[in-house]
Amino acid sequence: MNEAKALLLEQVRKYHQEASRPSAFVPGVTPLLPSGAVLDESDRVALVEAALEMQIAAGTSSVRFEREFARTFKLRKAHLTNSGSSANLLALTALTSPRLEDRRLRPGDEVITVAAGFPTTVNPILQNQLVPVFVDIELPTYNTTAERIAAAIGPRTRAIMIAHAMGNPFPVQEVAELAAEHGLFLIEDNCDAVGSTYRGRPTGTFGDLSTVSFYPAHHLTMGEGGCVLTNSLALARIIESLRNWGRDCWCEPGENDRCLRRFGFQFGDLPFGYDHKYIFSHVGYNLKTTDLQAALGLSQLRRLDEFGAARQRNWTRLREGLDGLPGLILPEPTPDSEPSWFGFLLTVKPDAGFTRAKLVQFLESRKIGTRLLFAGNLTRHPAYSDREYRVVGELTNSDIVTEHTFWIGVYPALTTEMIDYMVASIREFVARER
Ligand SMILES: Cc1ncc(COP(=O)(O)O)c(C=O)c1O
Repeated sequence: MNEAKALLLEQVRKYHQEASRPSAFVPGVTPLLPSGAVLDESDRVALVEAALEMQIAAGTSSVRFEREFARTFKLRKAHLTNSGSSANLLALTALTSPRLEDRRLRPGDEVITVAAGFPTTVNPILQNQLVPVFVDIELPTYNTTAERIAAAIGPRTRAIMIAHAMGNPFPVQEVAELAAEHGLFLIEDNCDAVGSTYRGRPTGTFGDLSTVSFYPAHHLTMGEGGCVLTNSLALARIIESLRNWGRDCWCEPGENDRCLRRFGFQFGDLPFGYDHKYIFSHVGYNLKTTDLQAALGLSQLRRLDEFGAARQRNWTRLREGLDGLPGLILPEPTPDSEPSWFGFLLTVKPDAGFTRAKLVQFLESRKIGTRLLFAGNLTRHPAYSDREYRVVGELTNSDIVTEHTFWIGVYPALTTEMIDYMVASIREFVARER
């Protein structure tokens, strides 16, 4: 390594040690965030090193991250994107590609999804002039079932796109079997569940495509970022084209002429030999990332198992600490799953003697951060009021979530002492209010 660089990175390590001295936890004063980035010395060094390289667009770190991340899932391809929402947009838009010929989704086709969750699991359906078909979820897994999905399949159903709720897998093997039986595509929104398994197999590996978010709240972070994963080389080519302006060329960043026919194609009405770099086979986007993000991602990836274990440990301590408490529905993992939890969900029972609002206010007053299960029932939001969609069955549990559910943190920066304070606070509140 260059001497100046080695010295600089040594200083960065020193700076990190001084700047990040942990302060003592003071109950009721130290904010206990529901989620956040967990960044260490190596992450800071990785970012500075990337800055020194001055590879400011996507480059070698991006390519390396995509390879290593795909390998982590034992899938063939991973494509970085600028967010999890963009990953979802790309995944669903890929299913509309003319390259899929008869299997291509066309305007008016239906995609089954759940009503309670994050909006950008659903938005790509509408953004592609497709029709979401909403099914309800179960409590206390906060996921839907294969039976509910089966009941929603109609003559125009072409795909299923569902998120693993708060890291808790939906019964993805059964859903994948159902999809195969009916010739439907399956997209797993794995944004909140990296590291979770269902029947011993990682979530994100069952569907035709799966997506990840690297926003700081998530299991791994790049600041902003996301990823689309697939085992299908055909779908991967479509994802790459859509991500990179819709172009047909599949050269890696900085590469030329990977196909060895850069000036040898005939496409559409273009002159023969028109530069392949500027031939567009999709109406695409630019949803790429930078090498600085990928460098941070590579550094974070080394800690995936450690992060997952910490999330599991915190979740279990909350679950055991709150067990048996009246007035609250506690979360349960989906049978046959091992979740890498995103958060700890709590639902206030109708006869609890207290409301969600009151409990949330109490926790916030003690600096215990809370969040809702994102949008709750999406169909109740103004954005969807004039959109075409179909609802199958009642959305009773989605409404319960909208009115009575919230979550608190399990992310790795929360210590045992902090988790115990969260448990004690909830216990104190319930004892006082009932
Ligand atoms: C299930 C789910 N899907 C998609 C997203 C969107 O990810 P991003 O914020 O990176 O766009 C989120 C965000 O938290 C999410 O929870």
